[in-house]
Amino acid sequence: MKVPNSFYNWLSLTGFVIGINSLILMLFLRIITLFYKNPYSSVNIYIYVILPFSLISGLVLILTGMFIRMRRRKKGEKTERTLPVIDFNERADRVLIAKLFMLVLIFLVASVIGSFEANRYTNSSEFCGTLCHTVMEPEYSTYLTSSHARVPCLGCHAGFKAGWYAQSRLSLLKMVYSYFSKGYSIPIPGTTETMRPERKACEGCHWPQKFYTRKLVNIVRYMADSANTEWNISLMLKVGPKKTSNGLKEGIHWHINPDTKIEYITTDPEREIILWIRYTNLKTGNVKVFTDPGLVSARNAKTTGHPRTMDCMDCHNRPSHLFKTASDYIDQAMSSGMIPPELPYIKKAAMAALKDPYNSVATAMGGIRSSITDFYSLRHHTLWMEKKAMIEAAIRNIQQEYSKNNFPAMKVDGYTHPNHISHFETDGCFRCHSGNYRTSSGEVISSDCNLCHTIIEQGTSGKPGFTMQRDSLVFVHPTKLKDGTEIKRCSGCHRTI
Ligand code: HEC
Ligand code: HEC
Ligand code: HEC
Ligand code: HEC
Ligand code: HEC
Ligand code: HEC
Repeated sequence: MKVPNSFYNWLSLTGFVIGINSLILMLFLRIITLFYKNPYSSVNIYIYVILPFSLISGLVLILTGMFIRMRRRKKGEKTERTLPVIDFNERADRVLIAKLFMLVLIFLVASVIGSFEANRYTNSSEFCGTLCHTVMEPEYSTYLTSSHARVPCLGCHAGFKAGWYAQSRLSLLKMVYSYFSKGYSIPIPGTTETMRPERKACEGCHWPQKFYTRKLVNIVRYMADSANTEWNISLMLKVGPKKTSNGLKEGIHWHINPDTKIEYITTDPEREIILWIRYTNLKTGNVKVFTDPGLVSARNAKTTGHPRTMDCMDCHNRPSHLFKTASDYIDQAMSSGMIPPELPYIKKAAMAALKDPYNSVATAMGGIRSSITDFYSLRHHTLWMEKKAMIEAAIRNIQQEYSKNNFPAMKVDGYTHPNHISHFETDGCFRCHSGNYRTSSGEVISSDCNLCHTIIEQGTSGKPGFTMQRDSLVFVHPTKLKDGTEIKRCSGCHRTI
């Protein structure tokens, strides 16, 4: 094939080799992926990101080389015409033009398809979740088991509207830069501040006017005694109102009532410590400002700063990346039978093995094994001799549960990223509902035990003291605490780290 004279230079030739190779490689890899489907394979990154980039670089090199060459020729031989003369009566010229046209077409089609696919691929959850594997592993692996496993990352993190879309592209570039320059923080802090505002991230799918009814939650806990005594608690959560006709006028989702606006000022990225709360009734214009004077003076903090308006994510802060705390995942694994609850002392042994944070998965696996082995072989030798198989099964499942919820490489666990729906181990709802936040005239944000749920079952089924009734039961603490102990703030004692 005849090519323009200006093409004959080293730069264009190099560009041509790079370009043609990228193209062949792209096609080759694409054909391979037709037969070999592995959802985690990083081959896609080459096909849709790296190779198209090198293809385009090749093109740029070809053109630059040609341009430089033409400029030089122009300078050296001023009289000669710098543009080639094309005569369509000449067969050779026609063929040359046709060939050039075909070549450009192929390049263009390939780059259009390439960039389209690259765009689609960089939007995919697989890309976001696996590109920088270690960094995103905590969020990606919890996402895969969440109820939002089929919602693309950008469904919550950007949305597909133009403005937010462009912003998400920019932040993607920033992320890639910080990944390579190692400029990201460990653990990665919550992203609520940079997510789409005004509840839009969730409301595209969860219609805010939809009322949810009350929700029954059955929790099984185990005590750290020899029998791993089981403790059931069933709560009727007042997500919606008592009577459906009341809509969002009462209940937990009252906070997202269109007439309600709650703003607050916090001191930390996980929004655990709240200094100032303002509730505005948009219908009546009534405003109430609540503070916890003790907390403000203890922190020596000012109650000024940029207030955040409360939305879905202030309660549902872990809709797709839930890192459970040790007592949560151990109790759940025991009640599902994965960790045998009939193995004496296993709750105590497990909690002791998980008490201190580990600095890598490998040390955690070894640490859990040696801690539990020592616990039984040194302190409960008969059990160790008799229940070896059960102990072995327990160790394996504790290790597995640990790996699902703890990511030491990124220093992520259920305490670095606490779930705000509850108040058992971390403050959650009690960040505002501790009973200490009051207005200057003495109105308090309620901490009444029946405000958010009623307790309808409590105790060990079939054992004395077990109660079940429709009206709310008065909370009974499973173990006897010192007389006069204030038990309202569970997290004061139950936060283990
Ligand atoms: C259902 C909505 C939803 C989906 C889907 C989702 N996220 Fe998130 N993500 C959130 C929310 C809400 C936060 C903010 C939590 C906070 O600020 O406390 C968050 C936070 C994060 C953070 C910051 C660190 C952290 O754990 O708080 C990263 C990183 C992240 N998400 C990555 C991803 C990736 C990668 C995907 C897709 C594989 C994804 N997210 C899908 C809702 C979602
Ligand atoms: C693209 C659609 C989509 C978006 C965006 C979305 N969700 Fe969901 N959400 C779903 C689907 C689908 C389910 C699963 C329903 C089921 O399992 O019955 C769900 C379930 C839930 C549930 C109940 C199950 C659970 O895990 O407790 C909650 C709570 C929830 N979403 C909150 C949120 C919040 C908060 C956001 C915003 C950060 C959000 N969702 C964004 C589609 C979405
Ligand atoms: C940022 C602060 C804040 C957080 C966090 C918070 N609330 Fe509230 N909540 C309020 C305020 C303010 C009121 C109204 C107090 C008043 O005027 O008496 C309220 C009122 C309520 C009410 C009464 C609604 C009615 O029927 O009038 C319920 C129920 C409730 N909250 C449940 C919860 C639950 C459950 C959580 C945790 C998942 C939670 N809240 C987290 C600030 C908060
Ligand atoms: C004041 C805290 C709070 C706010 C704000 C809040 N929720 Fe909830 N929501 C809850 C609690 C508590 C539950 C029940 C607990 C559970 O499912 O584990 C719940 C349950 C849900 C459920 C599941 C209902 C079911 O029956 O399974 C969905 C879906 C949901 N919320 C969506 C939203 C969306 C969307 C928003 C924002 C428009 C929102 N929530 C705002 C506290 C809140
Ligand atoms: C502001 C709302 C609110 C108030 C006030 C409140 N709770 Fe809760 N409570 C919740 C929510 C939300 C959960 C989490 C339910 C879940 O796991 O889905 C919860 C969980 C619990 C649990 C189960 C803990 C576990 O995981 O084992 C108990 C027990 C409980 N509450 C008792 C109480 C008692 C006792 C009081 C009074 C001191 C109280 N609650 C006040 C909202 C509240
Ligand atoms: C003064 C400290 C203190 C407070 C406050 C407290 N607890 Fe406890 N709780 C304990 C101790 C100590 C145990 C015994 C640990 C064991 O043997 O497993 C315990 C055990 C439990 C257990 C048995 C299962 C387990 O995980 O050990 C449950 C369930 C429980 N508490 C619920 C609550 C709830 C809900 C609240 C808040 C309303 C609360 N506690 C407040 C100290 C406290």
